[in-house]
Amino acid sequence: MTSDRTGSSGGPPLRVGIIGLGGGASAMIPKFAGNSNYHVAAAADIDQGQLDAFSSRYEGKTFLTAEELCDSTAVDVIYIATPNQFHTEHVLMALNGGKHVLVEKPMTLNLEDADAMIDAAERNDRRLGVNVKHSFAPRVRKVRDMVTSGELGRLRMLNWWYYNNWLYSPRTVEELTPELGGGVPWRQGPHMFDILRTIGGGMVRSVRAMTGVWDESRPVAGSYAGFLEFDNGTVSNAVYSGNDHFSSREFTHRVDEGDAWPDRPEHAKARRALIEAGDKDTEIAMKRARRFGGQAREEQTTRAQSRPSAWLLGGPFVASFDLGDVRWTTEGLTVYGQTEEYDIPMSTDLDGREGIVQEFHNAVLEGRPPVNDGRWGKATVEVLLSLFQSSEQRKEVYLSHQTPTIDLAA
Ligand SMILES: NC(=O)c1ccc[n+]([C@@H]2O[C@H](COP(=O)([O-])OP(=O)(O)OC[C@H]3O[C@@H](n4cnc5c(N)ncnc54)[C@H](O)[C@@H]3O)[C@@H](O)[C@H]2O)c1
Repeated sequence: MTSDRTGSSGGPPLRVGIIGLGGGASAMIPKFAGNSNYHVAAAADIDQGQLDAFSSRYEGKTFLTAEELCDSTAVDVIYIATPNQFHTEHVLMALNGGKHVLVEKPMTLNLEDADAMIDAAERNDRRLGVNVKHSFAPRVRKVRDMVTSGELGRLRMLNWWYYNNWLYSPRTVEELTPELGGGVPWRQGPHMFDILRTIGGGMVRSVRAMTGVWDESRPVAGSYAGFLEFDNGTVSNAVYSGNDHFSSREFTHRVDEGDAWPDRPEHAKARRALIEAGDKDTEIAMKRARRFGGQAREEQTTRAQSRPSAWLLGGPFVASFDLGDVRWTTEGLTVYGQTEEYDIPMSTDLDGREGIVQEFHNAVLEGRPPVNDGRWGKATVEVLLSLFQSSEQRKEVYLSHQTPTIDLAA
């Protein structure tokens, strides 16, 4: 490995290459670039325009195919942020090319492919991690600490409602095709269920859920309502609607006090913009503007940087323990105990991406799987699959591939 920089761990930085310079990658690349243990060394994308945008900001090599990056000796780690249907192909290619891999969520779309990735990581003695960044957010970790410390007794319930405009934001064809990993359960469920598993201990016993296709012009599940029971008896209600009617940020932000956190919810703004766009080509162009270097992406990044926990606070979340309820707020956490209510202020600078990038580096350096490894990612995929199965069969589904939460060292 050659580098003229030294990471904070003392060794040379890991050279990271990116496959897929879309919206997901746009938020991650600055986190690699801002961590002295990494050096942004290369990128691959089938769109030359995206590669040009990358080159205008980073010195790394660029490739028009994923294969070339996977074969390149210029990188040690590959971060894969291509659309969901390509994850398996690209992960296997990168691992077989001798690279460590951090892949976007969902890890893949079925359990067999997840097994193939886990096997390839072991066979090649490389690290495999799933980029469940919001599970590393400080608020999530703090609630998890409360579970493990027992300071409020046993965790009993996790309830989370999330209403937004996902389905009517500009979307690619694959984002609106269920078989390609499109729709709210595949695209947003990985965050919510990974966070619930992280806090609840990981071991989901059963799932009862309904997913819904309510608009045939966008024929993909735009919502889900799920009931999860963990092995230890903790239960969870998880509701998500991306139908651009109600915004549950009205429950988590002080909208009336002029708190625009990060921007004021505006009823049906996304639906109106789509109607104005008029055709699919214009919609795709709007989506493209949200990729790396695009105008809409720049605006979104500026807003997100001002409020890093915006994703978590998309709807009201309450964790109920024997001795109190805890909810996330714009300032941190509020604890409603037996006789007193108090706030726990949390950092407003971190959103989880910093933590996951650092954990992956530590795992590579220490030669151990990251806490968000392939088996963990596969277990979250099993929960996602069970949403669809339960909905189709209209019955409770029992799970068998769950893994326990591995808590990060303090
Ligand atoms: N959009 C987000 O804000 C976001 C956030 C977090 C995670 N993610 C995840 O990131 C992944 C990508 O989603 P997105 O919304 O960024 O997609 P996107 O459509 O915006 O971008 C995908 C990029 O990959 C490129 N690409 C497509 N096929 C390729 C191939 N075969 N080889 C190389 N490059 C290829 C495209 O040209 C494009 O630049 C998904 O798994 C998604 O779940 C997205």
